[in-house]
Amino acid sequence: MSNTTNQQWGGRFNEPTDAFVARFTASVEFDQRMYLQDIRGSIAHAKMLTAAGVLTEAERDDILRGLEEIRVEIESGQFEWSIALEDVHMNIEAALTAKIGVTGKKLHTGRSRNDQVATDIRLYLRDEIELILAEITRLQEGLLSVAARENDTIMPGFTHLQTAQPVTFGHHLMAWFEMLSRDYGRFVDCCERTNIMPLGAAALAGTTYPIQRDMTCELLGFSAPAENSLDAVSDRDFAIEFCAASSILLMHMTRMSEELVLWTSAQFNFINLPDRFCTGSSIMPQKKNPDVPELVRGKSGRVYGHLMSLLTLMKSQPLAYNKDNQEDKEPLFDAIDTVKGCLRAFADMIPALEPKKDSMREAALRGFSTATDLADYLVRKGMPFRDAHEVVGKSVAYGIEQNKDLGEMTLAELAQFSDTIEQDVFEVLTLDGSVAARDHIGGTAPKQVLAAVERAKVMLAAR
Ligand code: ARG
Repeated sequence: MSNTTNQQWGGRFNEPTDAFVARFTASVEFDQRMYLQDIRGSIAHAKMLTAAGVLTEAERDDILRGLEEIRVEIESGQFEWSIALEDVHMNIEAALTAKIGVTGKKLHTGRSRNDQVATDIRLYLRDEIELILAEITRLQEGLLSVAARENDTIMPGFTHLQTAQPVTFGHHLMAWFEMLSRDYGRFVDCCERTNIMPLGAAALAGTTYPIQRDMTCELLGFSAPAENSLDAVSDRDFAIEFCAASSILLMHMTRMSEELVLWTSAQFNFINLPDRFCTGSSIMPQKKNPDVPELVRGKSGRVYGHLMSLLTLMKSQPLAYNKDNQEDKEPLFDAIDTVKGCLRAFADMIPALEPKKDSMREAALRGFSTATDLADYLVRKGMPFRDAHEVVGKSVAYGIEQNKDLGEMTLAELAQFSDTIEQDVFEVLTLDGSVAARDHIGGTAPKQVLAAVERAKVMLAAR
């Protein structure tokens, strides 16, 4: 990166910028990733200036050709970024002038870096949200395929991480699917508010040139020009909103991660993660660690941090643009990269989960997971629920003493707690009977899991 003195505002200044200050205030090292959005914005601006009679067609064509050459140079790694030129905007503009001469200096007519940068970030984020939405969908599709396959695979359901009632593995995965559907909706909402065009706000008050904002808006695919120039150049609430949606998504992914970590442990032994998603230990030869879910769990921290830093960045800023806002980019970019990485890892990994069905079923058989079913059975035979609760409580206490689950007791053993209990009790004490009985929308019955998967497929197809 070269380091010559910036000429863009040379007119007012008596001495060159201090070398450290130039580096301290520069953003080009991290904002160059918006070069494509910057060029797209400039192309639209040049076309609009031509329609407005500010540039000639020949000038516009020179600008478009120059910008295209710059794009190719950047993409082939030949472009020389300069710290002295501070940011992506001034680097590209200076390169344009170096290429096409004085016409390059006309591009910035009726525009400021303040509306330019706000436009670039929104374009950039909008494109990234599209990629994130596609990745959430891919993860959800993976969940659907496993949920459909495992619709009747039985595992213990937990409350307080204590065995509560049997559920189906498909039902559990569909709970994750629901969380992700809400995350998807949050990113769609965020994209809607991001997709508003600041261009035309100029430095803060608008411009005296006869600009046609509807034209640039359409060329850039924004849904509307921002209504107020002061607001357009100053707010970064869309970036905060993105980090908030990202934080909630990552929070959900930490919950999934935590379960995957537990389930792969020898103590649970519910699933196997294929070796390609795990790593070993350099000292303990027997180890296979669930690194992907652990890392996703850990990466949530940086995204929560970015949310907090952007909230703090914007707090108490007076209108309109302040240089503080340059600090929006690194947190935003890192949040984008982190979310994309976590989603990609999960979308690749989820379809490859290998449930250990026998061991899941075995765990559900332990821990009196059909106790509620026994109580419901007694209620159906006319006993008030509180009394049934008491009878089952005594049966469980007996089971603990005898080391027997409810389904393993004989009728005589069960009947000592209530003569209402008859031979047909064994239908409800089985795991399959227990899950099949929860047969309503949102319930864990295999039939309901399959129906939920079908509804979800229709919903995804409509995206
Ligand atoms: N690099 C700056 C940023 O990211 C661009 C806008 C600079 N505007 C200004 N008036 N100094 O915010």
